Amino acid sequence: MRRLNVVVIPGDGIGPELTDVAVGVLQAAEKEADFSLSLDRRAAGGTLYRQIGRSITDETLDACRRADATLKGPVGDPSVRAPDGTEAGVLGGLLRTGLDAFANLRPIRLYPGVPSVLAGRSAGSIDYVIVRENTEGLYASRGRGFVTPDVALDTMVMTRRGVERIVRKAFDLARTRAGAPGDGVRRVTCVDKANVLRGFAFFRDIFLAVARDYPDIEAECRYADATAARLVQDPGHFSVLVMENFLGDILSDLGGGTIGGLGMCPSANIGDTKAYFEPVHGSAPDLAGKDRANPLSMVLSAAMMLDWLGEHAAARRIHGAAGSALLDGAITVRPDGTVADGTRAAGRAIVQRLH
Ligand code: NAD
Ligand code: IPM
Ligand code: MN
Repeated sequence: MRRLNVVVIPGDGIGPELTDVAVGVLQAAEKEADFSLSLDRRAAGGTLYRQIGRSITDETLDACRRADATLKGPVGDPSVRAPDGTEAGVLGGLLRTGLDAFANLRPIRLYPGVPSVLAGRSAGSIDYVIVRENTEGLYASRGRGFVTPDVALDTMVMTRRGVERIVRKAFDLARTRAGAPGDGVRRVTCVDKANVLRGFAFFRDIFLAVARDYPDIEAECRYADATAARLVQDPGHFSVLVMENFLGDILSDLGGGTIGGLGMCPSANIGDTKAYFEPVHGSAPDLAGKDRANPLSMVLSAAMMLDWLGEHAAARRIHGAAGSALLDGAITVRPDGTVADGTRAAGRAIVQRLH
């Protein structure tokens, strides 16, 4: 029996409700598998910041480093601010750089039975992954911006090592995928603003150089503004997209808006040795405690975690159970992205279909 140590951070807002569902699904999946999960629940985020003035302790960060993986709920409370005016309760900077989890994989996939706001789209016609650089770009300025009463400055940083490793990750991922739904072509799209900023021209140059090592994959470059429109008008064109940190943040939420909302969006933050898994969305204070949030973002993040840990069969079973619950209507995603029968009922529907 393989023992897997997983740190679980329930988070803020809807985080704990979603975490309960995901943990229930993991524990059900583990019953019929040959691994056993040892879960180490730890507080981090906005609520912790309110209590102790820090969003995560060194001890918890260390536990995340030592664990086999971390499953994290959304965190953040817009009313908890640092003296510089930014939010103090979020963890992205600390965990992503702390674990050097440089690749943020954000699959955007339209599931059977889930209505898209895009007319005429059915399951399978939207299926791409945003590969977001997670440790530099504009976010390198986090905590370092320069502000006077009249001027504010945040600097975008691109390093050769940072760009090369994220671009390679994207091409390696494209090799494992079937190709774009529209034409079956294995394709990586570099998304940038190389028409305006030198940093993006640097990113694109490195992308094109790395692409030469992958002659079997189509490489294309597009500007981010036009890409935003294409992701709405012709999402089937895309298979893997690679981009700078801030662009990846924006475009992944746009993608979520086309597949039934952010509640359908899981993600993986992966480094060379460490990784953590979390929904793309935030703590949704408007839904907290209402048993209405869609827990699939968290359940599918847990499945991505099992996949990364090498437990592919269990990951597939969770995907299958979620897919069939959506298809047979046991989970109904409303046009506003909430689930009709509630968060907990959605969890029960998935657990029932695991067996
Ligand atoms: P949000 O992602 O929390 O919510 C945006 C919209 O999506 C809201 O209408 C919300 O109700 C809806 N939504 C989100 N998750 C949903 C789900 N599972 N099911 C159904 N609907 C869902 O973004 P926000 O309101 O801009 O931010 C709220 C807080 O979350 C802020 O403190 C922000 O900094 C933080 N945040 C944290 C993370 C993270 O922990 N990874 C990510 C994004 C935002
Ligand atoms: C995300 C979030 C974070 C980000 C915030 C909460 C720091 O929006 O994970 O997409 O901007 O990276
Ligand atoms: Mn975001």
